[in-house]
Amino acid sequence: MSTMHDSGPLLQIDSLDKYFGGLHAVRNVSFDVDRGTIKAVIGPNGAGKTTMFNMIAGYFPPTSGSVHFNGKKITGMKPYMVAGQGLMRTFQNLKICRELSVLDNVLLGYHTKAKSGFGAGMLSTRRSRREEKNAVEAVIPLLEWLGILHEKETLAGNLSFGGQRSVELARALASDPAMLLLDEPAAGLNMHETETLAGQIRDIREQGRTVLLVEHDMSLVMDISDEIVVLNFGEKIAEGPPSAIQNNEDVIRIYLGGGNA
Ligand SMILES: Nc1ncnc2c1ncn2[C@@H]1O[C@H](COP(=O)(O)OP(=O)(O)O)[C@@H](O)[C@H]1O
Ligand SMILES: [Mg+2]
Repeated sequence: MSTMHDSGPLLQIDSLDKYFGGLHAVRNVSFDVDRGTIKAVIGPNGAGKTTMFNMIAGYFPPTSGSVHFNGKKITGMKPYMVAGQGLMRTFQNLKICRELSVLDNVLLGYHTKAKSGFGAGMLSTRRSRREEKNAVEAVIPLLEWLGILHEKETLAGNLSFGGQRSVELARALASDPAMLLLDEPAAGLNMHETETLAGQIRDIREQGRTVLLVEHDMSLVMDISDEIVVLNFGEKIAEGPPSAIQNNEDVIRIYLGGGNA
């Protein structure tokens, strides 16, 4: 676990704004994520949820606004630098390497750890073999916990969809991040797999990590989140604990009153 330097919120999002040409995709959104909590971002399709994630994780810069992680400004950092700070993401559309084994996919995540270093290619063969053995030993418990250890030599592309989602989660966790951004982790999962995922995300919080997720499955969101942010047309329209969000009239209107109308 990365050392914490700051006692404030782990993630601070201040007045984030994003234009794609003339499209105002995210409008002046601010919120914090407290350490060791699960926060969800919900909202209709096109509300700007993935765009928020892309800005937080360094995939593109905001038009204006800033993001601080562990007290440090990360706006403008490249994705690998953000990951190196201990903030890892998964993707709405899986981005695992289908032609690599499950184990090799997860080892890619392990080697994202800053301490494995850029000089790895210069290590003696003996030393790098030992490091490889350590890496495998480090990720085995993770594979076991996520129920994919028996598939470790299988090509990731040959796993069930749920299995592939677990590989992506394992790869993100293998770098021992302080915080995870999960973009629609339950998309495409069946009910049983979604229940398993709920338990896993809670366990991730128990490990002391912080989670920010985008998710459409409302029962999952209400079940596991400490706090929820609601976006509509790029704007934050509500924020609070699940009980407050469930009773928020604007939110009810969006979800029950015919989409974005
Ligand atoms: N890279 C991009 N270039 C141009 N427009 C984009 C891009 N990414 C998202 N958008 C647009 O921004 C809006 C918000 O999209 P997105 O963040 O994907 O929404 P959500 O994840 O909430 O469904 C949509 O209108 C979408 O078409
Ligand atoms: Mg999205």
